This record gives sequence, C-alpha cells and structure tokens, in this order.
Amino acid sequence: MACPVKHYDAAQDGEQLDDEAGMLYGEYLMLDKILQAQRLLSEESNKAVHDEHLFIITHQAYELWFKQIIFELDSIRDIFGVVLEEIQTLEILKRLNRIVLILKVLVDQVMILETMTPLDFMEFRNYLRPASGFQSLQFRLLENKLGVKADNRVKYNKNYTKVFGNDEEALNKIEESENQPSLAILVERWLERTPGLEVEGFNFWGKYENAVNLLLEEQKQNALNEPIESLKQYRLNDLEKRREVYESIFSSEIHQALLNRGERRFSHKAFQGAILITFYRDEPRFNQPFQILNLLMDIDSLITKWRYNHVLMVQRMIGSSQLGTGGSSGYQYLRSTLSDRYKVFVDLFNLSTFLIPRSYIPRLSPDMRSKLCMWSNGVEPNGVTGNGKCGLEIEDNGFEEDIV
Ligand code: HEM
Repeated sequence: MACPVKHYDAAQDGEQLDDEAGMLYGEYLMLDKILQAQRLLSEESNKAVHDEHLFIITHQAYELWFKQIIFELDSIRDIFGVVLEEIQTLEILKRLNRIVLILKVLVDQVMILETMTPLDFMEFRNYLRPASGFQSLQFRLLENKLGVKADNRVKYNKNYTKVFGNDEEALNKIEESENQPSLAILVERWLERTPGLEVEGFNFWGKYENAVNLLLEEQKQNALNEPIESLKQYRLNDLEKRREVYESIFSSEIHQALLNRGERRFSHKAFQGAILITFYRDEPRFNQPFQILNLLMDIDSLITKWRYNHVLMVQRMIGSSQLGTGGSSGYQYLRSTLSDRYKVFVDLFNLSTFLIPRSYIPRLSPDMRSKLCMWSNGVEPNGVTGNGKCGLEIEDNGFEEDIV
C-alpha cells in the first residue's frame, strides 16, 4: 500500500541541464580525446588480447599523475626560487604533501597491473617493441626537476636523452630541466639561510661540536671504567669509529671530498641548517621547515618504493635475464637504479647518524629563542607577545655556557 503521507523529497529537485547551458562534463574534461586514446595493437592485428587494455590505461594513468606532480613541483620551485617568505611555507607543505599522496597511489597502482599474468603479457609484448617506460619524457623531467644529477645516474642511464632522437621539443625540455635549479638545489640554498648558523650570533655549529666532544669524552670515560677488558676495547674501538664519523661533518674538507664522490649532496652550510632544524623542531619557526624536510624524505622514499615495486613486477613478467623492450638488460638494469644514487635527499636520511641525546643539545640563548618565536618579518605567530617563551624548553644541561 502506498504511504498516505506525501513526502517532499528535495533530492529529486532540480532540472537537468543540456548542452545549451554551456560546457558540459565531457567537453570540459575533453573526454572525447582521453577516452579515444586506447589503441590496442593486438586488436589491430586481429588477435585482441584482453589485458592490453589494462596495460595501456595503467601507463596513461601514470603519465597523467606524472603531469600533476611536475605541475606541483614547478610551482614549489617557483616559490623557493625567490627568497622564501616564511608565510609561504604552509603552501609549500600543502603541495609537497599532495605530491606525497599521489606517489603513494602510484606505488600501489603497480598491484593492479600485476593482476595480468606473464603469459597474458607475452601475448602482446611483441607488438609494443621498442616502446618502453625508459622513453617516458615526464619521468626524466621529474627526476631532473627533483635533482637527480647526470653524474649519479647508472651507466646505462647516463645517456638517457638518446631515446628522444631528433625530437627537438623533448630535448629542449630535458635541457631546461637539467639546467634550471632543481628542488634539491633550492632547498639547499634555503637551508643555508637557517637562522642560528651565524658564527657571530648563536653559532650553532660551534656549540654542537663542543656538545659532541663532551658526549664522546663522557662515553670514553665510561668505557675506560669497564672492568672486562675485551668489552672495554670493543667500546673504545666503537667510540673511535664514532669520532671519525663526526669528523666527517665537522671537517669541511672531508665533507667536500664526500660531496665530490657523490656520497653527500648538500653543501656544508645546508647540512648544518638541516641538523639545526631537526634539533629545534619544536620551536614555532622551525615546525614547518621540519615538516618540509620530512616530506622531502617521503618523496625520495616513495620514488624508491615505486622503483622497487616496478622491478619486482618486471621480474615477475619477464624474469631476470630477458632484455627490456627499450633495449636495456631489463631487470638487472632496473635493480641497479635502486641505490642511493637516485635518492636526491639522501643527506636528510643520514642525519640520524649525527643526532645526540636531547640532554646534550645546546640550549637556546634568549635572543635565539625569541628569534625562533617570530616570523622573519618580526611578526609573532598566533599573536603571542614577545617574551621569548614559546616552543618547548630544552632542559638546562649546564655546559653550554662554557661554549664559545
Ligand atoms: C608489464 C609491465 C611492465 C614491464 C614488463 C616493464 C618493463 C620495463 C623494463 C624492462 C624497463 C627497462 C628499460 C627497457 O629496457 O625497456 C622499464 C623501464 C621503465 N618503466 Fe617499465 N615496465 C612495466 C610497466 C611500467 C609502468 C606501468 C610504468 C609507469 C609509467 C613504467 C615505467 C617505466 C619507467 C619510468 C622506466 C624507466 C626507469 C629508469 O630508467 O629508471 N613501466 N620497464
């Protein structure tokens, strides 16, 4: 029986518009172009292979997301390119975070293509030769714009431009992406300006070096008090190694040598800025910079994860000794790209080597403390009055007063 009470259903309101009203969904998104762009080569050869459709859609989805990442990356580089106003860091955070989320989707998307079996792939692989992801222009632009240096690429990848032959437009884009400051270079310049590094001012680096020496000295005394001789020697040897590791950041010559070998990427000053931000991340002015550093690591980490997932998929599809359709050794070549050479922000990962316990972190001077409460233009965040007391108090460890 029908309900006697008449309901007013707002959900059924409204009139459907037709194209006289203006541009509609399909037109705005140019779906006629996108949805017509799946050309199955197997179908054209009268032997349609079902999974080729997925293969094409997956690659196209990747390329669309690459495009969005490059779009965000270019805009972030523009903001970093002029001297960064701190008020803009929130926008940078928002866009970096967006890149990170897209990359997470890209890492997971590999699984969808893995629903195709090697036998299915074999049925159409020959049709697509010599096409290969190796020829993805956007992927190379992405690497270059992030800061992958030509020198750090593995041998087979060094002359990656060759695949673009006489394509002037592609070659120009690549040249531009190699020559313009990458995100890594812009971040390096930004870190070099971290407040607190001034030798005449807070002199973080001098204070930090003294704190490390004090820590190592105390640990040495503890080791010397160790009654078991073999354990004592073990601890002393270990300490000697720790001292050498620290020396690699305190000596600008050693740092430079590591830079020349590609084992470090940031300038000495930028490296110091990153450590400074990491230690004092609870101070209001360093909250966002610290988050930026974390997101940069996330980007490196997710691209490495994508490379890894892609390598695993390649091994599953073509094994470890078949050549790629692009002509490389296939799995073996791709595996070699998993190394730190392709991690643009590898220094940020390695910062953990140089952390010291909280109780040894040099206490902020009142001047430095109040500086970190304010934006660089003198305005305090959240209207807090200037008593230099925002952020977390680092416990008084009683030794930094002696430190020059
Ligand atoms: C069945 C699936 C896939 C197989 C078997 C495969 C295989 C390969 C192989 C063998 C290479 C090395 C270059 C060569 O000699 O061809 C390569 C490179 C590459 N592929 Fe794939 N691929 C697959 C899916 C994808 C997808 C979905 C993407 C997404 C865009 C992609 C992007 C790339 C990129 C960017 C490279 C260059 C990597 C570098 O040089 O560091 N591949 N692929």
